[in-house]
Amino acid sequence: MTNQIIINTDIEKSKISKHIYGHFAEHLGRGIYEGIWVGEDSTIPNTNGIRSDVLKALKNINVPVLRWPGGCFADEYHWKDGIGPRESRKKMVNTHWGGVVENNHFGTHEFMMLCELLGCEPYICGNVGSGTVQEMSEWVEYMTFDGESPMANLRKGNGREEPWKLKYFGVGNENWGCGGNMRPEYYADLYRRYQTYVRNYTDNRIYKIAGGANVDDYNWTEVLMKNAHWLMDGISLHYYTIPGDFWKGKGSSLNFTDNEWFITLKKALFMDELIRRHGTIMDKYDPEKRIGLIIDEWGTWFDPEPGTNPGFLYQQNTIRDALVAAIHFNIFHEHSDRVHMTNIAQTINVLQAMILTEGEKMILTPTYHVFEMFKVNQDASLLAVECNLENYQLEDDVLPKVSVSSSKDGEGKVYVNLANLDHTSPTELSIELRGISLEETTITGRILTANTTNAHNTFEQPNNVKPTVFASFTVANNQLSVKLPPMSVVVLSLE
Ligand code: AHR
Repeated sequence: MTNQIIINTDIEKSKISKHIYGHFAEHLGRGIYEGIWVGEDSTIPNTNGIRSDVLKALKNINVPVLRWPGGCFADEYHWKDGIGPRESRKKMVNTHWGGVVENNHFGTHEFMMLCELLGCEPYICGNVGSGTVQEMSEWVEYMTFDGESPMANLRKGNGREEPWKLKYFGVGNENWGCGGNMRPEYYADLYRRYQTYVRNYTDNRIYKIAGGANVDDYNWTEVLMKNAHWLMDGISLHYYTIPGDFWKGKGSSLNFTDNEWFITLKKALFMDELIRRHGTIMDKYDPEKRIGLIIDEWGTWFDPEPGTNPGFLYQQNTIRDALVAAIHFNIFHEHSDRVHMTNIAQTINVLQAMILTEGEKMILTPTYHVFEMFKVNQDASLLAVECNLENYQLEDDVLPKVSVSSSKDGEGKVYVNLANLDHTSPTELSIELRGISLEETTITGRILTANTTNAHNTFEQPNNVKPTVFASFTVANNQLSVKLPPMSVVVLSLE
């Protein structure tokens, strides 16, 4: 069977918000400390305490938005512990993540500085689980009030005269679990109350994000939407790709079978059903799609690497993770009318990370390379795609063999984003690009692939998996024929 794809290059659908390429960095393991923050006195080269190699790598993938400080950490975080002279900041126990000492050296000022250096939007998650309405309200006042007020004066006393711009604010995290073990009815009432005091000062306009569902808890979305939809701009959803069982063993990041490869990709594809079903509930209350579905935690979650602190959630990252990332982006693109932002968990040294560090050493993961290859889609328009694809079969189970999406940027360049899920055989595609004369078009391609399912980068061999030029395509009769190697991610650019 020939796999056929038709792309209608003049049917532009929704805009693929650049915020779909967002990140999440929590006070967890070596995510913030060592991964981002080393302090001004560190021997690791840094910019005002933030490691310079990481800054450079993150700038290269155009991080559009960064969520912080958690995660579960957010509902135990008291922001006033993280301001003022660093040496006198309170030390606390990070009870969720490894029981280690949190010295609060990375606080509001350091986070906002990081966002300024990256040129990205800050997305702050407030504390509903163990914090007060006053505490949340004062945090927003501290960051955004331009004038004479107790919190603005406190900020100025700490060296920041001008308020920061803050758009994205989350009212709690996982309030069905680590954020307070609440029922949706109870959280809906708390959301209504807490968000009242998240004020818009001067010309700062906050996009308020309600804490949403765990995976397929559709009742949570229903109750929240019914009781508070007019008070929110976004509602979150968390879903992790876990090949095994969350409690009994998630599976290894490096030592896995072909069957686990297949199950992992199948579970990644489940994101599509989740968005459709949560989206259907949202449509009932918000048919205009004003409210964004904010998938502010997604990615693979495997067992921690042997020999590491299990509370640090440190895992390796292979070509399998790259496929998971590409599948997710293609799904997010398709639903970009409703999905306004997503945040991969997590940026550095935690879960499906872009970057891994070991002391002063840093490597880029296969997932990083997908973010870099796919960044051309940021703020482009989604194009209409029709597919007739063969199946990828393992034993009695089937998946689509290829994941695909297409977009057109502001300059009229068209991108075709492809992933061959099959770990053993190549896939031949015939692509018709309606509205384009291929004879008059320059086509270039980049590919990320490997020879083994667990190919990954190490501190000794940092370039095992990295993008290269892709040229396995031909043009004839205005059709593009493409041959994708097994387990590959390809982006074609047409101009
Ligand atoms: O990303 C790790 C944790 O996963 C987050 O802290 C929490 O929100 C989720 O359960």
